[in-house]
Amino acid sequence: MVPKTWTLLLTTAAVVAAKEYDYIIVGGGTAGLALATRLSTSLPESPILVIEAGPAAAVDELRITVPGFRGSGLGSIYDWNFTTTAQPHIANRTIDVNRGKVLGGSSALNYLCYDRAAAAEYDAWGSLINNTDRWNWDVMLSAMLKSENFTGEDGDKHGRTGPIRTTYNRKVPEFLSTWKPSLNKLGVPINDGASLGGKPVGVMYQPTNINPNPEPGRWTRSNSATDYLPLAGSNLEVRTNTRVAKVDFIPGSQPLLASGVVLEDGTKITARKEVILSAGAVQSPGLLELSGIGQPAVLNAANITVLRALPGVGENYQDHIRLSNVYRLKDNYSSFDPMIYDNTGSIATEQLRLWLAGKPSWYDYTSTAYAFLNWDLINTTTQSTLAHLASHPSPTHAVDIQKSKFLTDPSVPQLEIIMESNFVGATPYPGTGNFVTLISSVMHPLSRGSVHISNSSIHSPPLINPSYLSHPYDIQALIAGAKYARRIAHTKPLSDIWTQEVEPGQKIETDAEWEAFARSAMGSFFHPVGTCAMLPEKEGGVVDAELKVYGTSNVRVVDCSVIPVLLSAHIQTAAYGIAEVAAGVIAGRA
Ligand SMILES: Cc1cc2nc3c(=O)[nH]c(=O)nc-3n(C[C@H](O)[C@H](O)[C@H](O)COP(=O)(O)OP(=O)(O)OC[C@H]3O[C@@H](n4cnc5c(N)ncnc54)[C@H](O)[C@@H]3O)c2cc1C
Ligand SMILES: *[C@@H]1O[C@H](CO)[C@@H](O)[C@H](O)[C@H]1NC(C)=O
Ligand SMILES: *[C@@H]1O[C@H](CO)[C@@H](O)[C@H](O)[C@H]1NC(C)=O
Ligand SMILES: *[C@@H]1O[C@H](CO)[C@@H](O)[C@H](O)[C@H]1NC(C)=O
Ligand SMILES: *[C@@H]1O[C@H](CO)[C@@H](O)[C@H](O)[C@H]1NC(C)=O
Ligand SMILES: *[C@@H]1O[C@H](CO)[C@@H](O)[C@H](O)[C@H]1NC(C)=O
Ligand SMILES: *[C@@H]1O[C@H](CO)[C@@H](O)[C@H](O)[C@H]1NC(C)=O
Ligand SMILES: *[C@@H]1O[C@H](CO)[C@@H](O)[C@H](O)[C@H]1NC(C)=O
Ligand SMILES: *[C@@H]1O[C@H](CO)[C@@H](O)[C@H](O)[C@H]1NC(C)=O
Repeated sequence: MVPKTWTLLLTTAAVVAAKEYDYIIVGGGTAGLALATRLSTSLPESPILVIEAGPAAAVDELRITVPGFRGSGLGSIYDWNFTTTAQPHIANRTIDVNRGKVLGGSSALNYLCYDRAAAAEYDAWGSLINNTDRWNWDVMLSAMLKSENFTGEDGDKHGRTGPIRTTYNRKVPEFLSTWKPSLNKLGVPINDGASLGGKPVGVMYQPTNINPNPEPGRWTRSNSATDYLPLAGSNLEVRTNTRVAKVDFIPGSQPLLASGVVLEDGTKITARKEVILSAGAVQSPGLLELSGIGQPAVLNAANITVLRALPGVGENYQDHIRLSNVYRLKDNYSSFDPMIYDNTGSIATEQLRLWLAGKPSWYDYTSTAYAFLNWDLINTTTQSTLAHLASHPSPTHAVDIQKSKFLTDPSVPQLEIIMESNFVGATPYPGTGNFVTLISSVMHPLSRGSVHISNSSIHSPPLINPSYLSHPYDIQALIAGAKYARRIAHTKPLSDIWTQEVEPGQKIETDAEWEAFARSAMGSFFHPVGTCAMLPEKEGGVVDAELKVYGTSNVRVVDCSVIPVLLSAHIQTAAYGIAEVAAGVIAGRA
């Protein structure tokens, strides 16, 4: 196979419309491009098509390539710009649901945090789907390692020969050195260089998905478009700026046999073997519904004929929820704030010049300092109070039962705290000044929501209802995390670097004040999963252990929507791991 750049693979509409393919992958995102690339090399005789709704970004699109521009793609032409329905437990606010609409999908838009959850969490996938050989920690770890090429020496579990480039940040602000000793003083074990091997509990620095080109070379974002796709075989075609409207089935087939896909303009494209949905946790379930698979009530309301009733489609929506504690730094510390909030100023201009020249720059920088805690590490009261809230009334759904088991497993994190070197508040940036933010995030919230179509048009945005904070555990967990973040901020040496708590502010003290603050300031960590869950059908599952949609013979879902239980990690590594496993399953049976 001759390596080539992905730009050569892009084909025109006229070419595609005339052809048939063995496999059609809907969505050229994180998992979609990883899967397509692997399938194309395992099945070199098979014509494979990836259809991506968004554009292929230019190679010099700085909003994607510059690590320190993370966030600038949000609300851009590369974002679907979805939003939730009004959320009653957070004062009827809506929350933005940003999703990548570009080749590379959300891996082109994300914040470049790169980590893994606890071994027990991947093992649970196998137990829940009753196939512990197909899905477990060892399988997922080797799949995740297969996707990675880490540069550095830290003794942790890393892939060295995969496509996605990872490394540690080369430029970190001096005040981050207060992070590990402060948490350690509070009893949190230091877990540097050992958190990616299934035991993430502790305080540590973690890597980031950056290609660390040797100096002078630009440090650039590594994503599925930049680093998987160039490895694909010539049997893979990628069509961008093209949206699939639904999957087409052979009339009367039972189980349903897909014949291909229908584009938004009505064009049909034939898939001789399989159609694979990789449109992400927000849009894969809607594509099933538009194709006639889902809850009869949802389909009936949208005037769509039910080909297969499958109540789990679009249900089980789970997401990480977060709060920020923001502190104003002492005058003698510099932060990342000028790069975001004064990005045409002299500091940012100079730093961008350095980045463009391939020299160490603030624009290389991404999140670095993390802690993953179980509630016991805060104190026994927090552990027992939250465990009680989670188990009364006792959970009946398989996903909730699994989460309550995790609450008594000390190896499974329940709280993540990131020390960010800039202002990340719920209120606007105050205009000037340098800040540090402790973002706390609940790893296994018990609220589960849904995403559904509202009518039969692919163009009407999905109704996204995560049901944030609908379970009493979630609000108390959020508050416990933010209170603990304040305790960290008041612990030396971290307490030496700041002058003022800007958010929530020292005026927030009583339980009622914390609760009001949490409801008004809660945000999402952009990690929706579970909406086409890999679970038994009677538990609300949508796909089986081979990621095949129940009631179909040749439709799979391969993206974060199959994750049955939200992980205690940022989820891109899981997206790549799922794609690697799926490629093996599909190629092995072809
Ligand atoms: C702002 C943000 C920050 C994040 N930060 C991090 C982080 O720091 N670390 C981390 O690990 N994770 C992070 N995540 C989460 C992670 O990046 C995503 O959850 C993951 O990449 C999702 O992968 P996926 O393959 O399921 O879906 P996606 O990568 O979103 O891919 C879905 C693709 O399908 C396409 N598509 C959808 N519908 C259609 C259609 N009808 N026809 C054709 N194409 C279609 C979309 O355009 C998209 O390209 C972040 C996410 C966001 C949005
Ligand atoms: C998202 O919003 C931006 C800014 O308004 C816009 O340019 C872009 O086209 C929007 N994305 C979609 C999918 O509509
Ligand atoms: C949220 O909206 C509902 C329905 O409109 C309303 O009854 C309720 O009072 C609102 N709640 C808040 C906190 O505004
Ligand atoms: C689980 O799998 C085993 C082995 O394939 C099978 O014998 C058993 O019936 C399955 N149990 C359920 C509940 O599906
Ligand atoms: C992995 O990264 C190293 C640089 O650290 C590079 O030399 C090597 O070619 C990469 N391997 C692959 C398979 O891309
Ligand atoms: C469904 O069809 C009925 C009857 O044709 C129509 O009145 C209604 O508006 C349609 N609903 C949707 C959501 O398209
Ligand atoms: C900043 O000033 C504080 C005292 O106000 C001092 O403890 C700290 O070492 C100084 N840090 C730097 C980087 O100069
Ligand atoms: C679907 O809903 C959108 C609004 O979200 C509306 O513009 C469109 O006309 C509707 N289409 C149908 C077929 O009902
Ligand atoms: C336990 O931790 C919580 C959260 O930090 C705190 O509010 C509470 O006071 C602590 N309780 C004890 C007994 O230390």
